[in-house]
Amino acid sequence: MVRTADPTSQMSNNGSGSNREQMNVVIVGHVDHGKSTVIGRLLADTGSLPEGKLKQVQQQCESNARPFEYAFLLDALKDEQAQGITIDTARCFFKTKKRDYIIHDAPGHIEFLKNMITGAARAEAALLVIDAQEGIQENSKRHGYMVSMLGVKHLAVLVNKMDLVDFSRERFESIRDEYSEFLERLGVHPLGFIPLSAREGVNLTGRSEETAWYDGLSVLEQVDAFTKPEGNAEHDFRMPVQDVYKFTADQDDRRIVAGTIDSGSIDEGDEVVFYPSGKESAITRVEGFNTSPRTEISAPYAAGFTLTTQIYIRPGELMCRKGQSLPHVGRRFRANMFWMGRPPMVREKNYKLKIGAANVSAQLADVISVLDASELSSVQGKQQIDRHDVAECVLETLHPVAFDTRNNIEPTGRFVIVDDYEIAGAGIILEPLTEEDSLFKEEIKRREFSWERGLVTSAERSTKAGHRGKFVAFVGKFHSGKRNLAKAVEKHLFGVGCQVYYFGLTNLTKSFESLDREARTRSIEQDDAVRRLGELARVMTDAGTLFMTVLTNVDDYDMEQLGMLNAPNELFVVAVGETPFSQFKADVELPDHPDLEEAVQKVVEGLTKKEVLIDYSI
Ligand code: GTP
Ligand code: MG
Repeated sequence: MVRTADPTSQMSNNGSGSNREQMNVVIVGHVDHGKSTVIGRLLADTGSLPEGKLKQVQQQCESNARPFEYAFLLDALKDEQAQGITIDTARCFFKTKKRDYIIHDAPGHIEFLKNMITGAARAEAALLVIDAQEGIQENSKRHGYMVSMLGVKHLAVLVNKMDLVDFSRERFESIRDEYSEFLERLGVHPLGFIPLSAREGVNLTGRSEETAWYDGLSVLEQVDAFTKPEGNAEHDFRMPVQDVYKFTADQDDRRIVAGTIDSGSIDEGDEVVFYPSGKESAITRVEGFNTSPRTEISAPYAAGFTLTTQIYIRPGELMCRKGQSLPHVGRRFRANMFWMGRPPMVREKNYKLKIGAANVSAQLADVISVLDASELSSVQGKQQIDRHDVAECVLETLHPVAFDTRNNIEPTGRFVIVDDYEIAGAGIILEPLTEEDSLFKEEIKRREFSWERGLVTSAERSTKAGHRGKFVAFVGKFHSGKRNLAKAVEKHLFGVGCQVYYFGLTNLTKSFESLDREARTRSIEQDDAVRRLGELARVMTDAGTLFMTVLTNVDDYDMEQLGMLNAPNELFVVAVGETPFSQFKADVELPDHPDLEEAVQKVVEGLTKKEVLIDYSI
């Protein structure tokens, strides 16, 4: 029987009301090695076809004087789908006594890989088909690699078309040995190799005489022997924050933090922490969507939470549970990546990296090795990643992201790379790396090293001006009065003879504006803007200027980064009202809409104390 219910839905059952177990299996392999035949035959031999379908297709073949192919069954089912009834182009359903199967034929493996990595499709087990006569081909290897990369836990290899090699044991064993060795190098341990003739039905649903020397499982037995990987609900809690909704009623400043739980579970009252900001709170209420009222909720449900304290967090953060293992927060990691983009992935170019709900600007920092699937070997020393390459590489983001390693928590251990609005790469994170030798630090070092100076020293400049060059940032929310204050400070200091300049962020490019807007989501424009602002401040302060600007949309990491970019001149920060920081301490803290005259005094005092203003007198 072929079902009409959406089989990927977690809550669907087999239509008969019983809650039978479901398993997603993907079938992969080189072109023409027999994937569709295996599926067609499984459908036919397990009685999963609609009444009379097999006969109908056989008769059609006969009347067209065309040899019958099991693969035609799939096409016939597709035709039915065109009439709106049964099947999907890439999925078939069959059932055994043990459970229901959804089998994905992945003809366009790139599409499939994209879906798997973005989480749109799932495969818990894989069947990899190799033609006994043709032997191991390029895609046999590439697909083996993908299965390993995607972390599909169970794999069985079907050595098909054994009828074409007289069911030769030697042929089977030589393919088995060669392919096992390849998989071994990838760290993949197949559960079995099955000598098969899909067309003749040898070892498909039961053991066959033709291969008397084989005492392993048939394909169907093997599929039933796959075990369900444990669900993500068992792991530590992770929920990428997709959105933060504000209650609209007057006087109600509660917010709902919403997303889809990637792993683990959480209860009312549990303490939570958001990364990368590190902000903490606790759950007041669990708001499920389309679920009954509950106090506890787990993966894979979408959920919303109200928190006990009003913390300022933005979509893109990763919500975790205090007391459990925490994600890594950083800018560098080692990853395995599959590149699908037409232009190769190159260094020194900015890409968009999406992980969880976060979008950050990222660069290729290093290519460790590239797997040449056709040669079955790793290529070292490659400087770029070409289309269809599988590479082990180091990626570096401009702003820190929260992530897990794939082996630890799978959904938060995978990412995609977007180039020019298209998904161009997809991968899994193997290991976090320190930022010791980051591209960022290297670049700052290089910049400082090659800085060409005039004949006037910084010391001479500050002696003459009576102050040092400094980047003074006024940070606060929209309408906090920080802008008026910054301009008043500029005017005042100018009046007493300082070399001072107020830089309106909207002056130059749109990307700067992103730092001066109360944005809901962090954008990659923002990463770039921080970078450019830091560089600009470095030049202005080197010229001895008190360089001032206002920042609305920044966090601790941005301040750290601005500081590094502006080194050795450092940063002087004036916070007005509530700040977006979690740990970062401002040099001067002022209330919302401060009294202007007093506030200017406070800033001046702060600058004097820090010895920015050297011989200041009012
Ligand atoms: P693509 O979807 O094009 O990649 O091919 P596929 O892997 O789905 O192969 P398919 O099942 O369409 O089979 C390709 C050809 O191999 C067909 O002509 C099948 O009849 C033939 N074939 C499949 N299994 C066997 C087998 O066990 N023995 C023999 N002799 N031929 C087979
Ligand atoms: Mg096919």
